[in-house]
Amino acid sequence: MQTITTLAQLRPAIATLREQGRVALVPTMGALHEGHLTLVRAARAAAPNVVVSIFVNPRQFGAGEDLDAYPRQMERDAGLLEAEGAALLWAPPPGEVYPEGYATNISVAGVSEGLCGADRPGHFDGVATVVCKLFNQVMPDMALFGEKDWQQLAVIRRMARDLDLTRPAVEAIRGVPIVREADGLAMSSRNAYLSAEQRVQAAALPRTMREAIAALGQGAEPAHALAELRDALRNAGFSQVDYAELRDADTLAARDPDDGTDRGNVRLFVAARIGTTRLIDNMALG
Ligand code: PAJ
Repeated sequence: MQTITTLAQLRPAIATLREQGRVALVPTMGALHEGHLTLVRAARAAAPNVVVSIFVNPRQFGAGEDLDAYPRQMERDAGLLEAEGAALLWAPPPGEVYPEGYATNISVAGVSEGLCGADRPGHFDGVATVVCKLFNQVMPDMALFGEKDWQQLAVIRRMARDLDLTRPAVEAIRGVPIVREADGLAMSSRNAYLSAEQRVQAAALPRTMREAIAALGQGAEPAHALAELRDALRNAGFSQVDYAELRDADTLAARDPDDGTDRGNVRLFVAARIGTTRLIDNMALG
């Protein structure tokens, strides 16, 4: 596996890979776990050449968020990627991605609004901007993203369609199902911030979500089921529930599961905090 840190080196390296076959891109911010590695394996199954980017993107962190504290483990990550058979690690420093005078922002209306977009102003602009740049830098045949960050995936799909990035730059954007710990907690680099006690409490997030979905399936009033979910999270040790909402899986518009349309396309989205650590999860109702 080659590790590359400048655009000048990236371009010829990608050109060589493209001569050998299709290229799949897996964008990450590093501190890799099984969730990330599952994306890499899915990419390997789909294309002979897998490019993984590791870039802790400053533009998607708000003031007071964890940009400085975000775990950085480049050597360990490079070893994991090598073992998974990745062809190229693209790990640029911030100045290579946003050189002096950088001034362009990509903002995706609609799907960026609400949920994490409401709690983290500017976050999805930062994600859309860096992912567009990564697509243009790597020009992959496909790019893979986790359903753990469902709203992020919706934002990227919308941007790729709107900016005509899907051809020739990225032929396909693929979503990969959420990878969970044995107790159901979705894997996340931010789980490392949890103390041992908080880590145990955190399992209440997927558990109470499954309970709310079961209650809805038995005919519970959505407003009531969501209020119970919020209470259950606070009783389990969560300090704050940022949102607990039912939304359309594709448009992310607010949805009532009893509106007569396909219930299978409704998802439950939750963000909640334990101490200062913010955890997110989402599950299908159907
Ligand atoms: P990061 O949080 O490092 O995640 C990289 C990719 O791994 C994302 O597509 C994310 O959805 C996926 N992922 C993380 N945890 C997962 C899990 N438990 N199961 C399945 N997939 C999981 O998301 C980002 O970085 C950044 O916003 C990025 C897209 C790289 C842009 O900076």
